[in-house]
Parts: sequence; structure tokens; C-alpha cells
Amino acid sequence: MAVTAEAVLDALRVVQDPDLNRDIVDLNFVKDVVIEGGTVSFKVELTTPACPVKDELKRQAHEAVTALDGVDTVSVEMTAQVRGGQAAQGQTQGPPQLSGVKNLIAVGAGKGGVGKSTVAVNLALALLETGATVGLMDGDVYGPSIPTMLDNNEQPTGTGPNEIDPNQAYGLKLMSMGFLLDPEKPMIVRGPIVHTVVRQFLGDVKWGELDYLIIDLPPGTGDVALSLAQSAPLTGAVVVSTPQDVSLIDVHKAVSMFRTLKVPVLGLVENMSFYECGSCGNRDEVFGHGGAKAWAQSESIPFLGGVPLHASVAVGGDEGKPALVDERTPEHVRDAFRTLAGELARHVSILNMQAPAQPLIQIKGL
Ligand SMILES: Nc1ncnc2c1ncn2[C@@H]1O[C@H](COP(=O)(O)OP(=O)(O)OP(=O)(O)O)[C@@H](O)[C@H]1O
Ligand SMILES: [Mg+2]
Repeated sequence: MAVTAEAVLDALRVVQDPDLNRDIVDLNFVKDVVIEGGTVSFKVELTTPACPVKDELKRQAHEAVTALDGVDTVSVEMTAQVRGGQAAQGQTQGPPQLSGVKNLIAVGAGKGGVGKSTVAVNLALALLETGATVGLMDGDVYGPSIPTMLDNNEQPTGTGPNEIDPNQAYGLKLMSMGFLLDPEKPMIVRGPIVHTVVRQFLGDVKWGELDYLIIDLPPGTGDVALSLAQSAPLTGAVVVSTPQDVSLIDVHKAVSMFRTLKVPVLGLVENMSFYECGSCGNRDEVFGHGGAKAWAQSESIPFLGGVPLHASVAVGGDEGKPALVDERTPEHVRDAFRTLAGELARHVSILNMQAPAQPLIQIKGL
């Protein structure tokens, strides 16, 4: 008996998305079922190309349809259509230039030097590597480090409102205060100017269609995060911590700032999790093990993963060749960033499938 499209869809109901707890047919992920004799082909359209369980879902889908009577050959193509919050749903509250940006994700921490910029850059590159379209906005108006970390310091082209072309490096669209200022001169940026700059970066840069716009925040709990939350519908924030910070007040401060701003905390990253010797590979857990993960769990925050303290990460950052695209960085260190990206994309998808994005916050007098 010839196989039917209904039978194929019925068979695929055994394939469950582990995060959304529904089957892929119910979620409308199965597209373009074509049956030619005993050959069945179809697409599974996930909510992110960075889905960590993509291969497993493909395997299960293949197996389920292969088991049907009358099927000889099965071809499964995995595709992705990143979902967004408000912007993608046509309820744009932010600037029109952001209407093609599906997810705005801020990377912050309670204090300086914990690796926010390093994590932001490598996260952006790891998402890009999966096939997503990605931008990186340097929200560190006072001390931009994106130009150095990506070895890109050109003056952006385009003039006037809504007309700035972002720079490009390694396939990322970029904007940084560093592109606009003389690197030799000290930067004096007052509070109100920060708000203007943030709004301009969001509203005047031609970001185009992006699955993810990653925003690197300055240290602490200040103006930039507030301006962002007031100016654009943020999908959420990633908080970076070092292992010893978890017992300190800083990471709590960052999380409670985002909560006050009604920005969902998408996850905690433990940077410099353990020291790994660049020459012998020896691992030393200087600050103990598992603290950040346990803390995240106690706060009901997803733990996105840890990144080792490895000399190659610092060298790559200084030379403008980030770890993820630097072949001198050991593969398992690069994989640590890939895991972060997969976990982040996963939690963004879960959030977007569950609840609409938060409205922009309004604070009287600001
Ligand atoms: N996992 C790592 N292994 C080795 N070095 C790292 C790692 N993460 C960050 N670094 C280095 O630590 C320094 C601080 O990192 P980074 O600039 O990313 O921190 P930051 O939190 O953005 O700092 P700031 O608060 O000044 O913006 C940099 O020299 C960077 O190369
Ligand atoms: Mg930084």
C-alpha cells in the first residue's frame, strides 16, 4: 500500500521537542512532505539553527518515517526560522530600524573585567557559525572593546538619521562608539549623551534582518542597561560571572537590575570557570567547582555553561581574532562557546514560544 502524507505526519508525532514538550507536528515544524513511490522527503523547521538537539531530532524523525510500511528511502532536511518577540510579530515598539531584528540580547555583569565582551563576541560568532544572521552592538559607550577584539576600527559609512551602515567583521554586523571617536583621545561621555548614543545605535544603524543582535554592556548596573530597556524591546539578558563572584554581591546585583527593568534573564555564564594550562592542558579549579550552576538553579536562571580561563582566549581578544575563529584556540575551548550559543538560542526559543516580549519600560522623569 502506498504511504500517505497523513501517515507520515502521524508517524512523526512520536518526535517530541524536549524543551517545548510538544511533538514536531503539533508545533508545525514539519513542512513540504513529498512522497514519490517509496521515497519520502520533508523538512523540519526548528526555531533556531543553533538548536543543540538538532541531530537527535533529525535521527528520530528519520527513524519514525523509515519504520512505515511502503517506505524505502527517507530524506530529512533540517531548516530553521528564528522566532522573535515583538519586533517579529509586527508589534514593534522600538525604532523602525529594529523591525527586522528578531531578538535583542544584552550581555552584562555586575562588575568589570569578568569577560562580558569576550563572551558577547564569541557568542555572536558561535550563533553565526550555525547559520543565523547576527549583529553585535557595543553598548560600552565609555570603554568600547569591540574594535580591538574584532580588529575593526573603520569609520562607518552613511550619514543622517536612519542611515548608518554597520561595519562588518567575520560576517557580523557591528556598531561601536570606538568607530566614531579618535582612539588617541580620552572619551568623556556624560549620562544624557549615553542615552542618545544608545538610541542612535538602535535607531539610526541599518541593522537589516537579524536573528540575533547581541549587545555588549559596560560594567555595572547603570545608564546603558536602562536606556536599552527604555528604547527597544529586549528579548532578554545574559549575565556573566566568574566562579568567585557567585558568592559575592555583584552577580545578584546584575540579575536584580534586569529583573527591575523587566528584562528576562536568559541565563548565567560562568567565565574563567577553571584555569587550563595552555601548554600542558592541566586543569586547575582555582575557585572550586559547580558554584555558579548551583546558584543559577537556586535563582531559577538557566545555566548556559562555563568557559575555561585559557591564555589563547586572551591572546585572540587582544589581536582581534576571537577564540571562536582562531585555530590556535583548542577545539574544546571553542566548543565551550558553541555550547553557550546553543543553550542561549534554546532558551530564547522557549521564551518566544511561550510568552510575548515585555513592553518597553517607562520610568517617570527619564
Ligand atoms: N576565558 C578567558 N580566558 C582567558 N582570558 C580571558 C577569558 N575571558 C576573558 N579574558 C580576558 O580577560 C580580560 C577581560 O575580559 P573582557 O574585556 O571580555 O571583560 P569585560 O567584562 O568585558 O570587561 P569590562 O568590564 O572592562 O568591559 C581580557 O583581557 C580578556 O581577553
Ligand atoms: Mg567589556
